Amino acid sequence: MKAKLLQSIAAAALAFGAGAALADEDAELVINGEIEIVTKTDAPAHMDGMSTIMSGWRFRDSTTQMMEMDDFDNPAMLAVEDAREKWSTPVGSEDKSCADCHGEPEDMAGVKPVYPKWNEDAGEVRTMQMQMNDCRENRMGAEPWKYDAADALAMEALLSSVSRGMPVDVAIDGPGQSTWEQGKELYYARTGQLDLSCASCHEENYGNMIRADHLSQGQINGFPTYRLKNTKLNGVHSRFKGCVRDTRAETYSPGSPEFVALEMYVASRGNGLSVEGPAVRN
Ligand code: HEC
Ligand code: HEC
Repeated sequence: MKAKLLQSIAAAALAFGAGAALADEDAELVINGEIEIVTKTDAPAHMDGMSTIMSGWRFRDSTTQMMEMDDFDNPAMLAVEDAREKWSTPVGSEDKSCADCHGEPEDMAGVKPVYPKWNEDAGEVRTMQMQMNDCRENRMGAEPWKYDAADALAMEALLSSVSRGMPVDVAIDGPGQSTWEQGKELYYARTGQLDLSCASCHEENYGNMIRADHLSQGQINGFPTYRLKNTKLNGVHSRFKGCVRDTRAETYSPGSPEFVALEMYVASRGNGLSVEGPAVRN
């Protein structure tokens, strides 16, 4: 009797250990004890393949998850602090800072959730990085930042951080619709020697292990993300590039029209999740 009881306690402890090392899919994310992040919710109506959408946070191990629960533990916040200084530093031939026109970074709350979005004057869909570069080139007389380079990602992370907790709400109709449709086509197109699409992994196989990785839905509500793997901020397009390369297909470059369209589509698959960036991932 006693031996049997001990045995089941040992088994329970083992099971707990395994559970703690793997992602706890029922954990809830609250940042700094106050910003509630929706990491799981009903899929938006335009997605017929899935009923529930989940942030990549839910698929990470508990140590990685915890790094995002307090800004002091989130390594991305160092870049955000840097960007805060750049925000109010005048540059370029116009000697203007972002702050001169936009006020405090907090005044930009609500901008990130709707990007990428259609820009009427330019007649194109713009990512946040494209819009920031437009301000630099055409309003500040400064050099554009290289796409997904450290400066651009730090500023994008700052503007994301002030919108944390707000629902992603990317428009999929109106003048941007054809770009969104192009992105959707890219998402479902099977490519490369392995004949895989984004959906093969992130829609049909999320929750499964792939090599040593717990496969998520490939959501981008947490971008830019700080990755423990390369210890820096990573942009959406660079992440896409890495995933496409893994299928042994020709890939596009960060900032290309194809990746802009794909970002718009993938962002809209997260409509209803909270803006979470800068997130921590492995
Ligand atoms: C001289 C004024 C000026 C400066 C300096 C400036 N911007 Fe802008 N910015 C604007 C205007 C005007 C718009 C609206 C443009 C439009 O909608 O086409 C804008 C739009 C934006 C948007 C999109 C807002 C939205 O609601 O979609 C972002 C993001 C942005 N700027 C970031 C920055 C950053 C980052 C900097 C500094 C690197 C900066 N801006 C510097 C004038 C400025
Ligand atoms: C062979 C499987 C595979 C394919 C195909 C694939 N990915 Fe991934 N992707 C992964 C793995 C593994 C990871 C890391 C674990 C995770 O976050 O899911 C990942 C991570 C991501 C992430 C980061 C998610 C986060 O929360 O930080 C995004 C975004 C992403 N993929 C988008 C895409 C897109 C878009 C495509 C199609 C162009 C694609 N992936 C194709 C395997 C794949």
